[in-house]
Amino acid sequence: MPRQLPKMTIRKTDVRVPIIQGGMGIGLSSYTLAGAVAREGGMGVLSSAALDRIVSKRHGKRHNFREAAAQDVRDAKILGKGGAIGMNCMVAVLNSYEDSVLGSMDGGVDAIISGAGLPMALPEIVNNHERKDEVALVPIASSGRALDLICRRWSRSNRLPDAVVVEGPLAGGHIAWRTLEEANDPANKLENLLAEVFEVAKKWGNFPVIAAGGVYTHEDICRYLDMGCAGVQMGTRFLATYESGANEAYKKTLVECQESDIELASKPGSPCGMLFRVLKQSPFYQQALKRERAPKCDKGYLLNKGNCPSKYENEKTFCICNGLLSSIDLNNPEEKDLYTVGSSAYRIDRIMSVHELMRELQGLPAEKETSRPIEIRPQSDLGLHQST
Ligand SMILES: Cc1cc2nc3c(=O)[nH]c(=O)nc-3n(C[C@H](O)[C@H](O)[C@H](O)COP(=O)(O)O)c2cc1C
Repeated sequence: MPRQLPKMTIRKTDVRVPIIQGGMGIGLSSYTLAGAVAREGGMGVLSSAALDRIVSKRHGKRHNFREAAAQDVRDAKILGKGGAIGMNCMVAVLNSYEDSVLGSMDGGVDAIISGAGLPMALPEIVNNHERKDEVALVPIASSGRALDLICRRWSRSNRLPDAVVVEGPLAGGHIAWRTLEEANDPANKLENLLAEVFEVAKKWGNFPVIAAGGVYTHEDICRYLDMGCAGVQMGTRFLATYESGANEAYKKTLVECQESDIELASKPGSPCGMLFRVLKQSPFYQQALKRERAPKCDKGYLLNKGNCPSKYENEKTFCICNGLLSSIDLNNPEEKDLYTVGSSAYRIDRIMSVHELMRELQGLPAEKETSRPIEIRPQSDLGLHQST
């Protein structure tokens, strides 16, 4: 039986529906997606990856990383009608990490959600910002041990997580494990990771725990709430909405894919060193498997000041920046698309609106399509170009 979901409070922000739409880079969790989720009562989360490029194009004016993060938050806030907006800042996107955090805070973000590495320095970065007490800091962790390390370090800056997202091995994008054996080890199932994390969270002050990776239905959400979670974070289902930034070919492939099409790329894999879940028919991945794309990274967003291994070799890694930018139609047309998904992507059978999805996830009856209040317009036609 469907039941009413409780609200979730993270620091000073009340989230009426305890669902966080996970950050999805590059540009997949666009301001249109995050804004629509916020408007429906969840927390919409932007991705800071390559925002300089994305926001500069959208507004027709050059934005640096900090300005771009601030503008993306403002744009999402307009669409979100005051609902909760977070920014996902990946530690591995090293060059722009600090500017993205600070810019998001300038723009009025409610939460910084940070993973793809341990966000050890986050409290030190926010400490001199005037909004430091307003903004929730939420690490993504995949073990009790990782969370404990984060809490220990953050406590030196008199800060603790305002919530933690626990991401299990079924999630989309990068996952925390480096080998297939580790990813498939039953000890690393989300339920087991949650049990460890609850203990650590209790030790450090009992902040909210949010489950992520493979959450698909209203019943799944209820199950994690019953285990003691304050809410869930979901990616793949939001990717398959009209409002997400994925291009048409990405969405079509998502609807058509089978379970056997979903792979954890490793060799070649992401230059970040973590396993990266992809649809094997992604044209970019196919090219990478055959080593047909010469080593090249001309974008430089990842790792050590752009010194990414995919610049020099194509045996072990491929340039995820180029593949992902192509998948939002923001790259030179010679580069092909790379589709990252969660392990439940094969269950997607159609693209729907965020409004419809949020109703389904709350266990509410479907509305007639004609009564859908959210107007879907192309991202270029949302009237935000002039607002800088
Ligand atoms: C297409 C896609 C891109 C993602 N990109 C990011 C990202 O840039 N940073 C991040 O921390 N997590 C990323 N994730 C993980 C999501 O935020 C979320 O935690 C995860 O997808 C939850 O699992 P689910 O897809 O099974 O719902 C991504 C997930 C997907 C599906």
